[in-house]
Amino acid sequence: MSLLKSSSVITIAVSLFVLSACGQKAADDSQGNMAKEGATSGTGVTATAIINADDTPGEWLSHGRTYSEQRFSPLSRVNRDNVAELGLAWAFDFGVSRGIEATPIVSDGVMYVTSSWNIVNAINAKTGDLVWRHDPKVDKSRAAFMCCDIVNRGVAIWGDKVYTGTIDGRLIAIDVSTGKAAWDVNTIDKSEPYSITGAPRVVKGKVIIGNGGAEFGVRGYVSAYDAESGEMLWRFHTVPGNPENGFESEAMKMAAATWTGEWWTAGGGGTAWDSMAYDPELDLLYIGVGNGAPWNQNLRSPDGGDNLFLSSIVALRPDTGEYVWHYQTTPGDTWDFTATQHMILADLEVDGTQRKVIMQAPKNGFFYVVDRETGELLSAKNYVPVNWATHVDLETGRPVEVAGARWPGKPPYLQMPGPLGGHNWHPMSYSPDTGLVYIPAQEAPFAYGDDPEYLYKEGMWNTGANMALAALPTDEATFAAVKAMLKGRILAWDPVKQEAAWSFEHQGPWNGGILSTAGDLVFQGSADAHFAAYDAANGEQLWSFFSQTGIVAAPISYEINGEQYVAVASGWGGSYALAYGGVAPTGSEAGVGRVLTFKLGAKETLPGVSAIPARIPKPPAQTAPPETVAAGLGAYMRYCVTCHGDHAVSSGILPDLRRSAYLQSQESWDAVVRRGALSDRGMGNFGKFVDAEAAAAIRAYVIGQARMAVEDGDATAN
Ligand code: HEC
Repeated sequence: MSLLKSSSVITIAVSLFVLSACGQKAADDSQGNMAKEGATSGTGVTATAIINADDTPGEWLSHGRTYSEQRFSPLSRVNRDNVAELGLAWAFDFGVSRGIEATPIVSDGVMYVTSSWNIVNAINAKTGDLVWRHDPKVDKSRAAFMCCDIVNRGVAIWGDKVYTGTIDGRLIAIDVSTGKAAWDVNTIDKSEPYSITGAPRVVKGKVIIGNGGAEFGVRGYVSAYDAESGEMLWRFHTVPGNPENGFESEAMKMAAATWTGEWWTAGGGGTAWDSMAYDPELDLLYIGVGNGAPWNQNLRSPDGGDNLFLSSIVALRPDTGEYVWHYQTTPGDTWDFTATQHMILADLEVDGTQRKVIMQAPKNGFFYVVDRETGELLSAKNYVPVNWATHVDLETGRPVEVAGARWPGKPPYLQMPGPLGGHNWHPMSYSPDTGLVYIPAQEAPFAYGDDPEYLYKEGMWNTGANMALAALPTDEATFAAVKAMLKGRILAWDPVKQEAAWSFEHQGPWNGGILSTAGDLVFQGSADAHFAAYDAANGEQLWSFFSQTGIVAAPISYEINGEQYVAVASGWGGSYALAYGGVAPTGSEAGVGRVLTFKLGAKETLPGVSAIPARIPKPPAQTAPPETVAAGLGAYMRYCVTCHGDHAVSSGILPDLRRSAYLQSQESWDAVVRRGALSDRGMGNFGKFVDAEAAAAIRAYVIGQARMAVEDGDATAN
């Protein structure tokens, strides 16, 4: 089956939900409100505190709670027997309706959590009252260099400072007691399309941060900064640069031998945009490395090669950034198969021997158990349906590819998994009690094919794949068949046996990160706007709460004055939400992002939602010939789909272009699209890439979509 589109329209009802803000604890601009009961200023997070996190199970001091990133809470007051009594203790409104991916940090009764545009909120973890708020005033025009929403995955805390990375490439240290910046350093070359969405980690007094932007034309790296002064201490590049400029290290020289052609001209990619873990005993820092840029390997490294360290787990010395070992999950990546997915450290008995392992379920669909001392592959098994490789050869450590899967130069090809991955950034969780890894797994196939008009442009979405093939099919039968292939589940995976213990099916992909607890519970939010608790042993749903907007972030748990809290940030968003939100389950629609915090016996409620019928204003007349509309579709898929949605149907997070007042005249359209009238609000200036003719063609295509929606009665024309 091909995902090629035809000319009719998919009928997708998009409703607009408006949340009333009454009764909410809104994030106003007040700075420095005093903390209420349960919150004290200042904190003493040191290496020992995070290393010994299990001595203070009531805190959540680091992104994955511990350096091992297990996301398991040893708290058990909330458990299988009483979880039905869980209720909303407080809700904190971020006051924004863009994607929220942050894991909160809780220390000394204060919760630190980021929302859209990198705003850091310090909240009294007991009451939900704002303590302070730090707005780093990011350069919003850089949102144009972000594939996957203006998200952030959270802060780190160390000593008396909170650390956060920003979409405009800064790393900021904020004083925990005042909320004011202690230092603010630039981590990127601002002339290049880098961005930061990941949470920093602090190891031995060094703040470690990576970045994103592979497809836009960058070369990935991670850097370490002194936690006190903000001075840069080391930088490790994840892919080699132009050999003519010399190599930064022996590791880069080794990596360069696995590339061909002039890969550096498009940056090469390999951005380390999310996962890290640290083993204090081995003193190894692990980083997850991203995909190649462009995706199409023929265009990146024309004579092949493994292209190190793309799609790899790399172990480094945290003091120096020195390379120790790597394991590459997808040699010669050509599918956007990142290995930036969450990594978990655990000690497992493998074949009768106790092993120190690192576990990862990267996008490519295989679950890996790797010896974290040496990088040796111990086992690998597909955790979702995979059709690009038959298996991973344990002798060579390499996937055995299926003929035709390496699509460049070949006919279009429908593959599982695709660029959304069998698992994306949404954190998984490992429970040492059950021995299971709980994976927010998904199935979303993708049709890969050559882009006949590929031309690398820095700052644009460069994949070298024909994105038009990624449009959902429009004839009803094929559409229904493809929609049925979109799946999402909690997958409880036994990493020793490499098999599923149980799974819980959601309505589709792109569900939240996962927390497991010593209360024999698993917590997860979902695309269909629910936050729920499951029995960790068998997946039975034991409790759920309607969150009014889809949840993608991961929950945490903490304790104050003998009461256990479970908290999660809500707010639908991210790549799938923006591009395919139109086919996401009902309820996912953007609403006001919040922190939702629960405890036993609490009975707070969220204000009601009122649905407003979708209305499409009378679209302008279609004056363009069909060839122009077709060209407009091509340009739309190249430049606009990642934010404004498949078939110009918005998920409700960003404006639905079919309803836009700017569609009414070419003049107002061009002002936004080609002259940057809304660039300070995150709508890029496409003047450099989209010429007048292409802008008119895209408008003609959107007019066509609007007219079809009105004719089909999907929306009301006024
Ligand atoms: C990186 C994400 C991103 C991409 C890619 C993108 N846009 Fe936007 N666009 C936005 C955001 C964010 C807004 C809303 C700005 C605001 O809040 O006013 C927006 C708003 C708009 C609006 C105004 C809608 C309204 O009625 O308020 C138009 C028109 C528009 N975009 C057209 C396009 C076109 C055409 C393309 C492709 C050439 C495109 N955009 C690509 C993010 C994007």
